[in-house]
Amino acid sequence: NLVYLNGEYLPLTEAKVSVLDRGFLFGDGVYEVIPVYGGRPFRLDEHLRRLDNSLRGIRMTNPLSDDRWAEIFGRLITGTHDQYLYLQVTRGAAPKRDHAIPDEVNPTVFVMCSPIAPIPIHGVRAITLDDIRWQWCHIKAITLLANVLLRQEAVDRGAAEAILVRDGWVTEGAASNVFAVIDGVLITPPKGNDLLPGITRDLVLELALENDVSAAERHIRIDELKGAAEIWLTSSTREILPVIELDGIPVGNGRPGPLWSQMQAVYQAYKQ
Ligand code: PDD
Repeated sequence: NLVYLNGEYLPLTEAKVSVLDRGFLFGDGVYEVIPVYGGRPFRLDEHLRRLDNSLRGIRMTNPLSDDRWAEIFGRLITGTHDQYLYLQVTRGAAPKRDHAIPDEVNPTVFVMCSPIAPIPIHGVRAITLDDIRWQWCHIKAITLLANVLLRQEAVDRGAAEAILVRDGWVTEGAASNVFAVIDGVLITPPKGNDLLPGITRDLVLELALENDVSAAERHIRIDELKGAAEIWLTSSTREILPVIELDGIPVGNGRPGPLWSQMQAVYQAYKQ
């Protein structure tokens, strides 16, 4: 099981980076998580375009062409089980630690492929927490300390995810986007600097449109979320995950809802 690091294919235990790498010292880098179904990266173009945007957001350019990325992915994918590619690009190692961006530095590029853990489709618990993250959440930055602490708070309280709230408005999960069914309409917050433009999110909206499911992108107040008939979380590794309990209170009748069942079937068919 090989990983890719700066042009080389190595066993995971032999892949090493410098302690002066700015990813290590400053969290100065971005990443992508791309699902792989049937041996093929899913929504590859969308993920690579978001990578470009994240890199531009931190004043970097994509070190590799789309073809080169695809070639690397092809060499790391083994078998046809559900798996995911994790890629990370950091600014690289500079001769000394200095916050400002050095003039000459070569990015560190790392890619690995791992199996996707089984998805708990019977539903999960979630809690709401204050969104303590920075204000550029549209960049998929490796700087994830707030997300780590928020997710751990959820785990400590027996929940699978923290749903984040900023000034009374729902933004997203610690590592997922949020959908709610309110008055029969599927709602998700609009894209902006306060949330990651999820590839799964976009696909769910696209599939809703194709299947005559009424859907809208608009801001969701915390009290609306608490009264929603259904709540879902979406991400590349958890697909469409129903939330059956929010802050200790059942969502709907405490089981995955009918619209989730419909979208789940549509999504699974689309994956094939
Ligand atoms: N996280 N919002 C945040 C903050 C995320 O970290 C993620 C994904 C998403 C969903 O985006 P997508 O549908 O493109 O996976 C939304 C990945 C899976 C992770 O950090 O592991």
